[in-house]
Amino acid sequence: MAETEGARVTVAVEDGIAVVTVDNPPVNAISQAIRQGLIDAMAEIERNPSITAAIIIGAGRLFIAGADVREFGKPALPPTLPEAITAIEACEKPVVAAIHGVALGGGLEIALGCHYRMADPGAKLGLPEVTLGIIPGAGGTQRLPRLIGFADALDLITTGRQAGASEAAKMGLVDAVAENDLKAAAMEFIRARIGAPLPRLSAMDPPTPDSEDFFETARAGVARRARGQDSPLRALDALEAARMPFDQGVEREREIFLELRGSDQAKALRHAFFAERAVAKVPGFEAAKPRQVDAIGVIGGGTMGAGIAVASLRAGYSVTMVEADAEAMARGLGNVAKNLDGYVSRGRMSEETKAELLAKLTGAVDYGALGGADLIIEAVFEDMAVKRDVFAKLDAVAKPGAVLATNTSYLNVDEIAQATARPGDVLGLHFFAPAHIMRLLEIVRAGATAPDVIATGFAVGRKLGKVAVLSGVCDGFIGNRILAKFRQQADAMIEDGALPWEVDSAMEAFGMAMGPFKVMDLSGLDISWAMRKRQTATRPAEERYVAIADRICEAGWLGRKTGRGWYLYEDGKPSPNPDVETIIIEESTKKGIARRQFSAQEIQDRILHAMINEGARIVEEGIAARPLDVDMVEIMGYGFPRWRGGPMCAADIIGLDKVLGKIREYAGEDAFYWAPAPLLQRLVAEGKTFADLNRG
Ligand code: CAA
Repeated sequence: MAETEGARVTVAVEDGIAVVTVDNPPVNAISQAIRQGLIDAMAEIERNPSITAAIIIGAGRLFIAGADVREFGKPALPPTLPEAITAIEACEKPVVAAIHGVALGGGLEIALGCHYRMADPGAKLGLPEVTLGIIPGAGGTQRLPRLIGFADALDLITTGRQAGASEAAKMGLVDAVAENDLKAAAMEFIRARIGAPLPRLSAMDPPTPDSEDFFETARAGVARRARGQDSPLRALDALEAARMPFDQGVEREREIFLELRGSDQAKALRHAFFAERAVAKVPGFEAAKPRQVDAIGVIGGGTMGAGIAVASLRAGYSVTMVEADAEAMARGLGNVAKNLDGYVSRGRMSEETKAELLAKLTGAVDYGALGGADLIIEAVFEDMAVKRDVFAKLDAVAKPGAVLATNTSYLNVDEIAQATARPGDVLGLHFFAPAHIMRLLEIVRAGATAPDVIATGFAVGRKLGKVAVLSGVCDGFIGNRILAKFRQQADAMIEDGALPWEVDSAMEAFGMAMGPFKVMDLSGLDISWAMRKRQTATRPAEERYVAIADRICEAGWLGRKTGRGWYLYEDGKPSPNPDVETIIIEESTKKGIARRQFSAQEIQDRILHAMINEGARIVEEGIAARPLDVDMVEIMGYGFPRWRGGPMCAADIIGLDKVLGKIREYAGEDAFYWAPAPLLQRLVAEGKTFADLNRG
């Protein structure tokens, strides 16, 4: 979003009330012109005797989305946002913020500087700064607790979550919710307050925490959820400073804000923010128009098919689910209903909505039922012959122009497409389990896939609320291909001396949502076992093969579903499986390996460098369009810590020369596995970064 020429604040006087409009499309970000414009508007309001009160309102679809994130890396231009907010709060005439769409970050801080706040029923309010690696820097951590108390302020500020208008009203964050026309309601509201004493949050006494140990308890909880991310804990520090007089608290807040703004974590989180939006804008596909999709067909009612059906229904599509026979069909429909029940029992869906969604779901045992579908997604057993058979049948029944998608996670989409007479209509839509919850969607482009079919994948992905990333065809696409390298390195380390629980705890300390061995136990060890067997014939002779996982599978320990895998699950919680340790030691001995200690740092370094090296190959081969696509896959689908920005961003932060140096050092032990990616070598030679490639 470039700073628009037209970024401005206008003042119109209507019946003695100044209507101050913030206008900076598309999201009214608070650029320098807006900050200056607000200060000028306040001066005008003070000066003009015909003005008795003011409302601040946003032009377009929202109030104000916050500071301009693009200005963060650059020197700040005066006036500062705190200066603009001070001018609003100091105004001698009453000012109300009239909030529609969103008031986020600096936008909410502006609203907190106003004497009152009124919201449209659909408005959302929040301080999402921690999600960008910073904290509110314009008084938000000081004014908010004075308005709503420490407990609610802690929740909003340390999570960055947004509160809807009615919740905000309950908390006292807004004074009123407008019934109809927001502007008219805000004008009426403020007119009624002319002459009343002006409530200024900065003039209020600091609030009292609910209990003596409030901050101590809060710190433990925030640290646990932050998983290594600094900003939530620093936000808590700033919040605690609200116990001091306002001026001192604000000073402390500003110090922390400035400290964090230039940090690596803030850089990584900003990268993730823009990458999340950039993935849908793939170079070369700008002109492609998506095909119309209203009705979706899903083949298969297992975990995956049912999850896809639920996601589709919730997005407003009608769904036809096809299964092999009546019994499987009943099970499939039951799986969908069970998922929807989950939303109802958590209070996230009403019984009526559930009934409405189920009314849009049809079950069938005959492919002919798919004749009306605009998009058909196959989610059957992961086997090439089975998939090709499904696509050949689809070819016979799908209407012309229907998009045909496979949910395969490894298989060659070109080969699947060739089972039809219309390979241009075929693509991969790789969902992640549970498909109605996980946000990643890999859109796999086969050799013949038409550009408008890709555009359709992105359009449907957006409607499903997914972050869709384009991938080319290769074994495992972007995500599972990196995962395979990650696991090979984890396996090598356990054969060389580490234990699975040491690897898991090191990677969890790195910030991963779950260690790799726990993930394997969760998804079932048999899936990758089958894949390893399939790859036996084509496995390069130079590749180090670690047979530990095979031995565990042979023992019948397939993970959580069998009660034991790498871990034991006697009371549902994982505890190290001692028999696994015995197997590992036997395997090391068999290969004559002298087992050695691995520090957490070494485990993290090896796995991260393996991911970076493979990510570079994936970019180089054009499987991913840009490094940022790799980063988004890892963050959205594989639990990579967002605050590290994804592996490619993490590599830039470390420095590509250092990354290459380390990979070369590891290559001394296993030259085949650690062969440095040519792209990495080229970037180092040219003094460039992955970020340079993102910019194109
Ligand atoms: N700064 C700069 N650009 C922004 C922006 C911001 N704060 N917020 C959104 N944009 C840009 C997006 O990058 C996108 O640009 P392109 O069209 O070029 O890709 C465009 O605005 C539209 O954004 P979305 O595609 O996200 O549109 P949406 O309708 O889905 O969502 C939104 C709108 C809810 C405002 C969402 O963009 C959002 O959550 N934005 C971030 C808000 C935020 O984090 N604000 C806090 C900033 S930090 C701060 O304010 C600190 C402080 O106190 C000084």
